[in-house]
Amino acid sequence: MSSQLWQRLVVGFRSVLGPKLACGDPPVALLDPEPDGGASGAADETAWQSDPGSGRGEEFDSPERIDDVQAALDRSLAWRAQVLLEQPAGTDPLGDGPAIVASLRNGEGDVIRQIPFAAQQALAVSRNPTSSVGDLVRLFERDPTLAQSLLRTANSAWYQREDDEAVVSIAAGVQRIGLQAVENVLLTSIVGGMLCRPGGVYGGLVKKVWSHMLRTAPLAQRLAPAFGVDPETAFTLALLHDVGKLAVFDFISARRRDLRREIRMPEAFLYEMLKRLHEPVGGRAALRWGLGTRAARALAEHHRLPAPAAPDPLTELLYVAERLDLAAHARFEEPDWETLWKDGLITTDRAAVERRYAVESN
Ligand SMILES: [Fe+2]
Ligand SMILES: [Fe+2]
Repeated sequence: MSSQLWQRLVVGFRSVLGPKLACGDPPVALLDPEPDGGASGAADETAWQSDPGSGRGEEFDSPERIDDVQAALDRSLAWRAQVLLEQPAGTDPLGDGPAIVASLRNGEGDVIRQIPFAAQQALAVSRNPTSSVGDLVRLFERDPTLAQSLLRTANSAWYQREDDEAVVSIAAGVQRIGLQAVENVLLTSIVGGMLCRPGGVYGGLVKKVWSHMLRTAPLAQRLAPAFGVDPETAFTLALLHDVGKLAVFDFISARRRDLRREIRMPEAFLYEMLKRLHEPVGGRAALRWGLGTRAARALAEHHRLPAPAAPDPLTELLYVAERLDLAAHARFEEPDWETLWKDGLITTDRAAVERRYAVESN
């Protein structure tokens, strides 16, 4: 759908958003930027290093703030579901589609699957700044697959300097990449392990979405300094940016189990459902997984439709990284930088981003 059409839908349905968007207001981002606006959109490639607020986690989140963001996500989801269900249907019946939309909107059952307990404990260790190298090593010693991922990450071009030797021990791997990257290794493994099997044609789509998320994460990490964003935060959020789509497939999977038959809905409706609902659903996942309101907002607004009123480096980075990935891997095209900046209303210095992309692509 063109951005103009989306903007018209925003205007048409904004009244259901409640007090945040009264009739007559211009379309604005569903979740307002933080009062301090976060890091600037300028290409200060070191800004994130001295800005703990650009990190993830809940360090600045009060319970009231979390409640506010949760409520905004619920409003956004209700509004988007309404737009989806009210748009003119094609000739095919919508089948199970509306029931799945209703359960997503109403949060019936487990909207977002909870991370398994053992994985939650591991994440807690990786998020605790007082954890010792020994604590972290123990997480990986129990799981050979995780240990392999850790070593692969530690020996990747991002972490291995030219004169560094290859890391072969878990302890050395942990020391080389640091706490936040350890958390990213865990998250990648956890979310990958939680992928549902919705059956039929949907299985292939789940894999496609997950591959796109896996590719976008290191790309966002590499581009992050040009946006003034912490590279590890960029990795986490880009890894999870479309997690709302995986949650939609989770619902399809649950419904299939309940009905004991394949799910029926037109393909076009499924794509519209994914496109319209995955942002607030992803935001809910971020809150539920303790990633904090800043992460939830970024996931909930990564398509920048409409773009936040103030410069917002996190969504700008996610928008650019995912579009670059889709150009390279879905359409096999060179990036159209001008259109990218225009469509996403990107405020970050384009030349700085292009430079990082060119270096890393070679
Ligand atoms: Fe997305
Ligand atoms: Fe995406």
